[in-house]
Amino acid sequence: FSREGFDDAGSGPLYLQLQRRIADAMTSGRLAPGDSLPAERDMATMTGLSRVTIRKAIQSLVASGQLIQRRGSGTFVAQRVERLEQALSLLTSFTEDMARRGRSVDSLWLSRQIVSPAPEEIMALGLGAGDRIARLERVRRSDGVPLAIERASIPLSALPDPEAVATSLYDALQANGQRPVRAVQRISAANLAPRDAELLAVPAGAAGLRIERIGYLPDGRVVEYTRSLYRGDAYDFAVELKLAP
Ligand code: GLP
Repeated sequence: FSREGFDDAGSGPLYLQLQRRIADAMTSGRLAPGDSLPAERDMATMTGLSRVTIRKAIQSLVASGQLIQRRGSGTFVAQRVERLEQALSLLTSFTEDMARRGRSVDSLWLSRQIVSPAPEEIMALGLGAGDRIARLERVRRSDGVPLAIERASIPLSALPDPEAVATSLYDALQANGQRPVRAVQRISAANLAPRDAELLAVPAGAAGLRIERIGYLPDGRVVEYTRSLYRGDAYDFAVELKLAP
C-alpha cells in the first residue's frame, strides 16, 4: 500500500478508497486467504492516511467477513471454505467423515481432563453420585481449516484415560469396546459468540449450528454426550426422507 492515488476531492471518503484498494488486492490475489495485513500504524505510515481512517476501512471489511481480526496477532484475509455435504443418517466420526473425502484432520486441544460432571452431564449420561467423567474440548480442523468446536463428555468407564485420544475419540472408544452403536442428534441454529467465532476464524456473530449428540452402547447405556458448534458457512446436512407409514 502506497501514498499514491488517494484523492481528497473526487473519489469519495478516504476510508472507502482504502477499503476498495484492500478489496482489489484480495480479488487480484496480491492478498491471499490467510495473509496478514500490516499493522495499523505501519499502514498509516505507508499510505499517509490517519489511523482512524485505516481502522474504519478495516472494520467494515471485518464486518462483511472479508477480513478476520485475532486479538494479539493482527488482521488476516478470511479463508473461504468449500461447503461439505454431511449425511445425517449415519453414525460416523469426524475423522471418518474427512478420511472418506480424502481430507486430513487435526485438533487444537482446548482441554482434556477428568472432572466432576455438571448437572446437565449427570442427566445426559445417567451418572450416579460421585461418578467422574472425561471431558474433551477441541477445535476440529480439516486441511488446516477450523470447522467445529466440540465438547465431549464421556463416562470414565468408557474412557479411563482421556490422553488416550490421539486424533479420534471413536477410535479410542472402539479400542475399549465402547464405541456407540446408536445416537440421537439435535441440530439448532446459533450465532457464534466472539470467542467461538475467533476459534473458528469467522466474524463474531456469524451463523453456526449447535449439534448435540447422545451416543448409546448396545445395552442402552449412554457413552457419549457431545455438544458442538459447527461453522454455518461450511456444512450442508442432508438426509433421505421416506413416506410416512
Ligand atoms: C462427530 C460427532 C461427535 C463425535 C465425533 C467423533 O464430530 N459430532 O459427536 O464425538 O464425531 O469424532 P472423532 O472420532 O474423529 O474424534
